[in-house]
Amino acid sequence: MANESESITPPNLYGTNPIKKPRQILPSGRTTLAVILLSTVVFVLVFSNYYPEQIQIVYGSAHTSHQTAITGHEDNGNCKLFNGTWIRDLRGPIYNNMTCPTMPDSKNCGKYGKQMDYVNWRWMPHGCDMAMFEPQLFLNIVQGKTLAFAGDSMGRNQMESLLCLLSQVEAPIKVHSDTEDKFITWHFRSHNFTLMALWTKFLVEESQREINGTLLQSHDMHLDKLDARLAANLHEINILVVSGSRWFFRKNYLYEEGKLIGCIYCSEDNITNFSVISVIQRAFRTALSNLDSHQESRLQLTVVRTATTAHFENGDWNTGGTCNRTEPVGEGTAMTGTGELEIRNVQVEEANRAQKENNHKRGMNIEILDITKAMSMRPDGHPGLHWDNQWMKGYSDCSHWCLPGPIDTWNELLLAVLTKYRKNLEEQ
Ligand SMILES: *[C@@H]1O[C@H](CO)[C@@H](O)[C@H](O)[C@H]1NC(C)=O
Ligand SMILES: *[C@@H]1O[C@H](CO)[C@@H](O)[C@H](O)[C@H]1NC(C)=O
Ligand SMILES: *[C@@H]1O[C@H](CO)[C@@H](O)[C@H](O)[C@H]1NC(C)=O
Ligand SMILES: *[C@@H]1O[C@H](CO)[C@@H](O)[C@H](O)[C@H]1NC(C)=O
Ligand SMILES: *[C@@H]1O[C@H](CO)[C@@H](O)[C@H](O)[C@H]1NC(C)=O
Ligand SMILES: *[C@@H]1O[C@H](CO)[C@@H](O)[C@H](O)[C@H]1NC(C)=O
Ligand SMILES: *[C@@H]1O[C@H](CO)[C@@H](O)[C@H](O)[C@H]1NC(C)=O
Repeated sequence: MANESESITPPNLYGTNPIKKPRQILPSGRTTLAVILLSTVVFVLVFSNYYPEQIQIVYGSAHTSHQTAITGHEDNGNCKLFNGTWIRDLRGPIYNNMTCPTMPDSKNCGKYGKQMDYVNWRWMPHGCDMAMFEPQLFLNIVQGKTLAFAGDSMGRNQMESLLCLLSQVEAPIKVHSDTEDKFITWHFRSHNFTLMALWTKFLVEESQREINGTLLQSHDMHLDKLDARLAANLHEINILVVSGSRWFFRKNYLYEEGKLIGCIYCSEDNITNFSVISVIQRAFRTALSNLDSHQESRLQLTVVRTATTAHFENGDWNTGGTCNRTEPVGEGTAMTGTGELEIRNVQVEEANRAQKENNHKRGMNIEILDITKAMSMRPDGHPGLHWDNQWMKGYSDCSHWCLPGPIDTWNELLLAVLTKYRKNLEEQ
């Protein structure tokens, strides 16, 4: 297992260090104009997003209308793809652990004896119906293209779901992987479709701190630089799904123009404390505004996948927390107690901002895959506890999602988004 134990949910997210009201501390002594300006901007950004009642949530982003992917009922313009509820559907998933050869053990919940009733639910957006995932349609749309998930292990989880869904039509071939599966590439030969996962957990440039060769749980993050490993792949990628939230909840040191400007959860009393949310917002802003600036970029569509919920109850990931519920929760009781909604709001805000800016430029479009609400209702869809699972080393995994399971809905929604861009994608 990696030194950097990415599989374990980072500390501080659940309980021990809840998102607090942000506090800006001006460094004493060398208080420069830049710092004041910066702090003011952060303060305004953070406060304008802190109080839920001030947040304008528009599920189904303003610039999307997904009529083409919706079947069953006609969309009369009131379809809110990302606001809805889960309904019973006994048809079950289109794959299982026998028909998906690439299913990782860590997500193969059936194998570990989890009761499988959680597959018998379907996402029902308000105002329309979702089509079941059609692998052939997806492959037709992405023919000759490269799609990458850039982010952390949740991005990889979505890629694993997509692999299972598409392998019902064509068996993929693994063409690249490192020992920790952080950078993986699959190819669907008869559609010349390439699928990648890129381990770029902050989207911006970072390195893990170490002392005498031992890696620490904190990172140095350059808030003004796109992750170089992401940048290095942009000449190949046509469709990019970006995400990230959990790794920010650590003691991370923040840089701009190479200078230390602050940190998250730090104890040094001469460094400015930044709130997690403000840092996530900056990282997404930097990423979204730099993706298009690469000369050889082939990027046509960038999709911002919003934060997803973990569902530890009766404890934390490392204090015996579990997730043994057997049904979705209702719409009014959605479980987002740990800041995902606030994170989702800044991600949506940045996606909308970037979309506006890009309207003036050529090429790249930006869309939102807003799964936060849907997933907040699915405490029943996580692997949970199985002791022989090396992935979480004996802890309950209430963060990642079982395959098959509710995460497959992310790809149904992604297909809805791609369908809208079918013409654009074909043209290039
Ligand atoms: C989502 O739908 C519910 C039920 O119709 C509604 O009460 C709620 O206001 C909607 N939320 C948003 C953000 O549109
Ligand atoms: C697949 O899941 C079933 C439960 O649905 C389980 O009994 C079986 O052992 C699993 N098979 C494999 C190959 O993982
Ligand atoms: C497959 O797609 C790549 C672009 O992703 C293109 O360069 C290549 O020529 C295609 N190969 C075939 C056989 O069409
Ligand atoms: C690193 O190693 C050096 C030499 O072995 C030692 O003197 C020093 O205390 C170590 N530093 C830490 C933080 O462990
Ligand atoms: C920064 O926040 C941490 C908790 O997140 C706290 O322990 C620390 O004292 C704060 N530092 C300053 C300088 O306020
Ligand atoms: C904070 O204080 C420590 C110890 O006094 C010093 O090493 C460090 O350089 C200071 N950091 C900044 C940003 O001033
Ligand atoms: C769920 O887990 C809790 C401990 O977190 C336990 O008390 C409870 O009995 C479990 N419920 C079921 C149905 O297994």
